Amino acid sequence: MRFNLTLLIFGIAALATQSVLADTTVSKVDEKRQDELRYFVKHDCGSCHGMTLKGGLGPALLPETLSAKPKEFLVTTILEGRENTAMPPWKPMLSRDDASWIVEQLQSGKITQTRLAKGAQ
Ligand code: HEC
Repeated sequence: MRFNLTLLIFGIAALATQSVLADTTVSKVDEKRQDELRYFVKHDCGSCHGMTLKGGLGPALLPETLSAKPKEFLVTTILEGRENTAMPPWKPMLSRDDASWIVEQLQSGKITQTRLAKGAQ
């Protein structure tokens, strides 16, 4: 009986840990890094996708074009680039958390055109 209870508690703890680890909806990027990433998106991604992300050499990165696409697919696109296209891999400069945060911002429109136009700090 005692053994079973221990197992049960252990099981619940394991499940709880797993669900925390599986939760990718909130990226672990601190505020200082978020500012750096906003700047990065404007300058480094903006050179192809447009300073306000409406598209240029690369396609628009707006909620209208991205929200329906799987997050993981877009994170992989950013980290690995797309072969035979101008989209380069950003792995050397961005961590998975960074890329994941950027995708969340792009899909939800939190990096807004006005904010970028005004100059994200
Ligand atoms: C040298 C030009 C260039 C730069 C710089 C660039 N991209 Fe791209 N990106 C592209 C091109 C071209 C595509 C379209 C690839 C294709 O045809 O599938 C693309 C595609 C993407 C996509 C997929 C869009 C979709 O609708 O599936 C995402 C997301 C993306 N880029 C994000 C970024 C981010 C974030 C950065 C900055 C870290 C960045 N890109 C920098 C050229 C660029």
